[in-house]
Amino acid sequence: MAYQTIKVDTAVGPVGAIITGVDISKPLSALAVKEINAAWLEHHVVFFRDQSLTPTQQADFAANFGDLDVYPFMTAVDSNPNVIPIIKEADAELNFGGAWHTDTSYVERPPKATVLYAVEVPDTGGDTLFADATQAFHDLSDGLKNILESESGIYSPKLVHGREGSYKQAAARSEMAKDYGGAEDFAEQEVEHPLIRTHIDTGEKSVYCSLPHTHRIKGWTREESIPLFKHLTEICTQDKYVTRFKWQQGSLAMWDNRCVFHNALNDYQGMRRHMHRVIVQGERPQ
Ligand code: SIN
Repeated sequence: MAYQTIKVDTAVGPVGAIITGVDISKPLSALAVKEINAAWLEHHVVFFRDQSLTPTQQADFAANFGDLDVYPFMTAVDSNPNVIPIIKEADAELNFGGAWHTDTSYVERPPKATVLYAVEVPDTGGDTLFADATQAFHDLSDGLKNILESESGIYSPKLVHGREGSYKQAAARSEMAKDYGGAEDFAEQEVEHPLIRTHIDTGEKSVYCSLPHTHRIKGWTREESIPLFKHLTEICTQDKYVTRFKWQQGSLAMWDNRCVFHNALNDYQGMRRHMHRVIVQGERPQ
């Protein structure tokens, strides 16, 4: 596609593109928004470098692509209700988002986009991996595709945010924000979604289930479901589908949770990492 307001460079890896030529701290023209959206739908994740964004400027940028959503498990920064801080302190062990997943797939209408901005990055490490779940679906055998498309998944936050979940336990060790108040019962809820999702804008199918968010296949036990989720994770996250993004202060990534998995690497022990995250409302997965 020929762009008039941005430059789009796909030499970043198997999925994603770097967008240059635009200052996203400023209000964007309708054409610029249309072109960024088109690049995002085509490449599934778009990256920007060297931006300088207040929380409200980040939220305003994200709002070009839909109504903003509120993440149920963390308190926003003081200056904007839609921006949550994602901070791993130097002495913490567990990081946020450190397993292959798509964001918040355990709610009825998971966010379509996540917009993540790097405030402070470690000297080394802390990269985020992105995997193309559409291409991975295309490459599955017809037999496995048929099984996955005829079943549905039971998704739940309980594996990470529930009473026994890993984040809850890290919060108890004071390693993560403690602000789970009021969300405790919600953290145990379950919702049914397809295992393979069809993108509402592109019509493409993608693998959607993930080990941390999909509790089980409907009608199966969790023990029966785990081997299939592990197998899918291994398939979908092969090098041929994965782009590794190295953050710099001022980098921003916007990914499409309907067709890309991500995994925040936890390889910077002893250093601090500070990000700001905004999510854009999505539709019920079909
Ligand atoms: C997330 O999973 O939303 C966080 C990703 C990251 O911090 O790189």
